[in-house]
Amino acid sequence: MSLLDPPTPMGNGKPDFKCWHDYAAPEKDRISPHLFETGDDLGPVEDFRVPAGNYLAREQHEREREHLWGTVWQMACRLNDIPNVGDYLEYEIGDRSLIIVRDSETSVKALKNACRHRATAMISGKGNTSCFTCPFHGWAYKLDGSLEHVPAGWDFPQFDGSGLREVRCETYNSNVYVNLDDNAAPLIDHIGATMHRNFEAYPDHRMWKSWHFGIVVESNWKIMAEAFFEAYHVPWTHPAYAPGSGDVQGRIDVFGFHHRLISMALIPSFTSGWESTEQEIFDCVMQAAGGFVQIPDGQDPDSLPQMTLPDGVTARRFMADTIRGNWGGQGLDLSGVSETELVDLFSNLIFPNFVSFVGPGGHVTYRFRPNGDDHNSMIFDIANLVPVPGDGPLPPDVPMTMIPRGTLMRDHELAQKVLGQTTLIVDEDVSNSARIQKGLKVSEEIVVGEELEPNIVAFHRNIERWMTGDRRQSR
Ligand code: FES
Ligand SMILES: [Fe+2]
Repeated sequence: MSLLDPPTPMGNGKPDFKCWHDYAAPEKDRISPHLFETGDDLGPVEDFRVPAGNYLAREQHEREREHLWGTVWQMACRLNDIPNVGDYLEYEIGDRSLIIVRDSETSVKALKNACRHRATAMISGKGNTSCFTCPFHGWAYKLDGSLEHVPAGWDFPQFDGSGLREVRCETYNSNVYVNLDDNAAPLIDHIGATMHRNFEAYPDHRMWKSWHFGIVVESNWKIMAEAFFEAYHVPWTHPAYAPGSGDVQGRIDVFGFHHRLISMALIPSFTSGWESTEQEIFDCVMQAAGGFVQIPDGQDPDSLPQMTLPDGVTARRFMADTIRGNWGGQGLDLSGVSETELVDLFSNLIFPNFVSFVGPGGHVTYRFRPNGDDHNSMIFDIANLVPVPGDGPLPPDVPMTMIPRGTLMRDHELAQKVLGQTTLIVDEDVSNSARIQKGLKVSEEIVVGEELEPNIVAFHRNIERWMTGDRRQSR
């Protein structure tokens, strides 16, 4: 382009390209009907802007601490993170700490992690115990939080003898959710009927967690969350994946507080103009993102056998057949499942900070939280759920490994071992987030695309709506 050329007109001339509905049409009869439900009307695109202060302002962080994190349901752990009576773990949200404990075979509780005497935090990390004993003066509490013993109890006539403060705790699918607001609506009302249909089609009760990593990211929590809200960035942020990953061909639907992103895999990115052969597309996905492919576990993502596509078979078809074949051999019948549900990515946000990529062959879950009281860094964690065919016991869930701050995922031995080249994708999103944080400091606002990123503007509107007390999920 010469310097004299006029700038490309924005917003004009959307080209014709094949999108998800076109790919889905031939197999419409076997695709789960919930995938055709469409999202809310978000109004004129002129308003699709977000002020930089939503990410950077300390005041915003403090409002979120009180009026978002203090009142919203949030995924704390999986039930199988604490499978045995007495298992507990610490759930931290910002600078608040809770104990999640399996207090009986059939019950899980959330307790504030503070002794009733002088407020010492009772636990950190995870473990198993028969009672919680405070390390300071030895006040002891049963697993359900009730007070068991106070050394020299005669000296506290003013204390009513109640135990660790309980917090609302409910389960949805195989996850434990907590809410610091005693008056919150039930969790299922928050999830709502539309989002529920997106989860019930791919139940996770017979899945085990095969890996789980946590990373400190040098950005506000919302920046990192938004890195997983759209596929528009894929060819530019993840160039090795561009020949095998759609970008603009997918779709986004906002359902009240929540949303769903469909990102298409095993087709080349449209905006970068890749023209890949079907074999190149397939090889690209196996090499760049093998760690995320829904193949049975137990295979090293970097040493999968080279597979040659038969003539005339698309990469999408071949991948779907490979997944069906591999899982069928292990006793999981996916023969009736559509191609798109086996190869594309369907990611659901449960407002505000839990994203689950769901499918019949496994889930990948993401969570985004502020890092303590710091609004300029956050804790990101990513976990992989794998189906277990049959009805035998599930293997124990793998606990979260925290990657040391400043270490790239690709340089972490365990992450490299289980995820291989796929670690690069995560590293690329992490480094983008730090760049965005930097750029926002000299920006007033950002603009977001009408069809490619509408959920980002909805996200900010919903946070504000929530914080100002309108918390009813509409659908
Ligand atoms: S602070 Fe816990 S026993 Fe004193
Ligand atoms: Fe990304």
